[in-house]
Amino acid sequence: MHRLKHRPGLLPGGFAIVLAFALALWPGPVPAQTDPLAPTGRWSANTRGSAPLPPMGWNSWNAFYSDIDEEKVLASATILVDSGLAAMGYRHVNIDDGWWLKRRQPDGRMVIRTDKFPSAAIGPGDHTSFRPLTDRLHAMGLRAGIYSDIGRNSCGQVYTPNLANQPEGTIAEREVGLYGHVDQDIELYFAEWGFDLIKVDGCGIRGLSAETDHVRSGNYREFAPLIDMNTLGRTDIAAVQALYTEVGEALHRHNPDGDYLFSVCLWGSSNVRAWGKNLGNISRTSDDITPQWTRMLTNLDTVSTRALYAGPGAWNDPDMLFVGSGDFDADHMTEARSHFALWAIMNAPLIIGFDLRKATPEQLALFGNPGLVALNQDPAGHQAVPAYQSGDLQIFVKTLANGEKGVVIVNRGLAPIDAQLSAGHLKFRGDAEVTLTDLWSGDRQTFIGELPVRLEPRETLVFRATGARTLPGGLYVSEQPGDVNPAEDGVTTPRHDPAIHRGVIGWQGTRGSGEHPQYGGFGGAQADRSPFGEPLRIAGTRFDTGIGTLANSRIEVRNRGYARFAANVGIDDSAGPGERSVTFFVYGDGRLLAHSGPQPFGAPPQPMEVDIRGFALIELVVRSDANALEPLPVVWGDAALLRWDRNGGGTSARGGSGL
Ligand code: GLA
Repeated sequence: MHRLKHRPGLLPGGFAIVLAFALALWPGPVPAQTDPLAPTGRWSANTRGSAPLPPMGWNSWNAFYSDIDEEKVLASATILVDSGLAAMGYRHVNIDDGWWLKRRQPDGRMVIRTDKFPSAAIGPGDHTSFRPLTDRLHAMGLRAGIYSDIGRNSCGQVYTPNLANQPEGTIAEREVGLYGHVDQDIELYFAEWGFDLIKVDGCGIRGLSAETDHVRSGNYREFAPLIDMNTLGRTDIAAVQALYTEVGEALHRHNPDGDYLFSVCLWGSSNVRAWGKNLGNISRTSDDITPQWTRMLTNLDTVSTRALYAGPGAWNDPDMLFVGSGDFDADHMTEARSHFALWAIMNAPLIIGFDLRKATPEQLALFGNPGLVALNQDPAGHQAVPAYQSGDLQIFVKTLANGEKGVVIVNRGLAPIDAQLSAGHLKFRGDAEVTLTDLWSGDRQTFIGELPVRLEPRETLVFRATGARTLPGGLYVSEQPGDVNPAEDGVTTPRHDPAIHRGVIGWQGTRGSGEHPQYGGFGGAQADRSPFGEPLRIAGTRFDTGIGTLANSRIEVRNRGYARFAANVGIDDSAGPGERSVTFFVYGDGRLLAHSGPQPFGAPPQPMEVDIRGFALIELVVRSDANALEPLPVVWGDAALLRWDRNGGGTSARGGSGL
């Protein structure tokens, strides 16, 4: 126990950090197998597959929908290479819906549409293979991606049957999805055909109830829906999760080198925010993007407050880029730049959805903007966190591996905005110089305190910033969301987030009652905000920085060589009075290091300071003695990982992180 250090000098009277042996005071530990809050000492977000950085590349869907062929795919692939974009990281070339002809009977082997992909016609008969195409892409230094569905049928079949290249044949032949064929298909796509990525959609378990025309007409077999996009309560979350887990296992089995990517496409349904990160490398948070500004904002909103749910190995996916089309076409480069910059700072996969044969030099230069790509591909993998949002203005700040900050300031609206970027937004000191490098122009400027900026309609400013950190000897936990995993976020009844902009999906105009909240992420853990978006506050004390979560939560935090964990803890004022209390626990590699006393509502913030030297995984657990179903917001205020010396000058057991 030599690592545990009680430091009473740092604590106010009456408060004590109780060390491990005092766990006996806690009313009986729950057996580990049944207690989701029991420490595991293990990072539980996905580490399978290979996605240390947000994937980059190209996908056929936004460019062509399902009207695809080999020539179109290879044309954009060639331009990726020739333009230098591939060398910058745009290496994935993903074939989306439209490649399949049928599932051969009776052996169930998938058959490729050889009229569109002639190199796949290897014969004899309807024996087809994508190997010639994946070999070609690999020889170009690229990686190849394929598309399927978790159900029996595809999105095209269910929702866009009039689009080109729908599967053909009998009912069984047209069942091209993975359902019932997971092992067979994954082995075929990866071991035999040589793909590196699969995107797995979910339409086949969503839109084929007995009442649909598809089923009534005898066109497809019924699949009692597991997903109801509009009602989480009618979604069989466990069943959906089990199906995707089966695919994850098959991918693991058939890719012994681990070099693959699993793209989960559930559009934010099925409470995927809580578990997609545990098995996918990227996970969609919203329904499809369209080439419309307001729809892009919808998709942005589904990721912008979910930084804690993403990191190396498992990224939030607000859908593919639509730069090049509609509101983001060559005549709307302001909007195109904004869309691209927002995706870059959110650590979104940068997947181009444009026929690159039509790209102008200016558009290619946007995809290839080295500063923006570096912002997205920063090795620390911390998604940006909102620093300001009101009206049409948002400021997002991303902590970079070298301690600098990336910052995006966006004007979502149609009127110019005069704004102030403050050092505080960047968690830099207001009395020291801040240097900004404009990633569009390369210009540099400095300011102290705050900088007035003007944004034209839909304009986005992007900077890299250096300055004096307000926390010199470490990082706030909310500055390093890529190293945080809300293993349990306390949400017991997932709810759709009403705060997300509801852009019109397009085809239905303003008929009906409009779009409804669809992303089941309301009440999850948040950086610098309460789970419901309020400021963090304990007994009237405001914390600009910290982790807001619900009680009955367990948050994993990677410790990259820091010596101390510090926080001020308590029930968030938004919880309101009530006869319940919470207790905060800090574990290191599964061992209890410290816990607070029981904190009732209204108790002042209680400081905790814990020696974490030598522990690689810190777990922050909050238990409530109240009804476990009550969503009770709690605060890890100013939560930080620090070096040993309070002033930042000292060293930790492993030499600190260099920040
Ligand atoms: C769904 C997905 C899209 C695309 C289409 C293909 O809508 O969300 O990204 O793959 O299916 O039909």
